[in-house]
Amino acid sequence: MNNQHDAEDLASLSSVRQAHEHGDQTQITPAPASDDATPQQQPIAIISDIHGNLEALSVVMEEIRRRNIKNICCLGDVIGYGPNPLECLDTVIENCEFTIMGNHDFAIFYEPFNFNTAAENAAYWTRQQFESDPDRTRRNRRWRYLGGMQTRMMHERFMAVHGSPRRPINEYIFPDDIYSASQKIALIFERVSHLCFVGHTHVPGVFVAQPDFYSPDDLNNRYDITEEKAVINVGSVGQPRDHDPRSSFVILHPGHVEFIRLAYDINTTVDKVRSIDALDNFLGQRLLEGA
Ligand SMILES: [Fe+2]
Repeated sequence: MNNQHDAEDLASLSSVRQAHEHGDQTQITPAPASDDATPQQQPIAIISDIHGNLEALSVVMEEIRRRNIKNICCLGDVIGYGPNPLECLDTVIENCEFTIMGNHDFAIFYEPFNFNTAAENAAYWTRQQFESDPDRTRRNRRWRYLGGMQTRMMHERFMAVHGSPRRPINEYIFPDDIYSASQKIALIFERVSHLCFVGHTHVPGVFVAQPDFYSPDDLNNRYDITEEKAVINVGSVGQPRDHDPRSSFVILHPGHVEFIRLAYDINTTVDKVRSIDALDNFLGQRLLEGA
């Protein structure tokens, strides 16, 4: 941790750690409606896995603004891998209703867990960026936000986690699990009351309890909400891995979920990755391939 936090900062960070250790979850209600729509009718943009990719995040935020959507939720991994962690975290702090803690956010605030060498090096470089900002107020604001991220949120309309409802920070729910790990899917669905939004795999789509998985293409980019339980992966803003390099996110409308893809200036991000020694060139290359 940054040794320049004052005593008050450390006390507040310590209480955050204790909350995580006790598995706290937070119940929230949506922000007040900005027009005549009730909170239940307000569209909500749900983004995830930005991974320090400012070019991708900027395009997504611009689209959300263009649609006049006021409520934005983030499912974590704001940072890690990418070249602009500070700018991405600042954007999220200023625009999102809440951010769930992802495994990369955890890695920066606490320590990397089960990371490969490229991811671990990126995590240490990212932490260094946080610690080297000379502006103490800005630095501490970011640490506080990172430390205050909850592992799950119970929104009025859905549950939100980074990985899975069972192991919210680290468990992956892969599309292939419907064939190879049906018991795992069953145990996960036991913890879902209706809708659960996740990120983490960087592969968007909808899991249902049967078990089955539908990609956005299967659904024509629209999942109609029914009584049926669903675990909905929103995909990744900053590092898609479904062989489509465009940014992915969703909008929760009153009766359906809309999957959105947006092209962004990938080459600029790749050039930034290449210019930073601590970031493996592979982390840029995979952006071009969406894999
Ligand atoms: Fe991620």
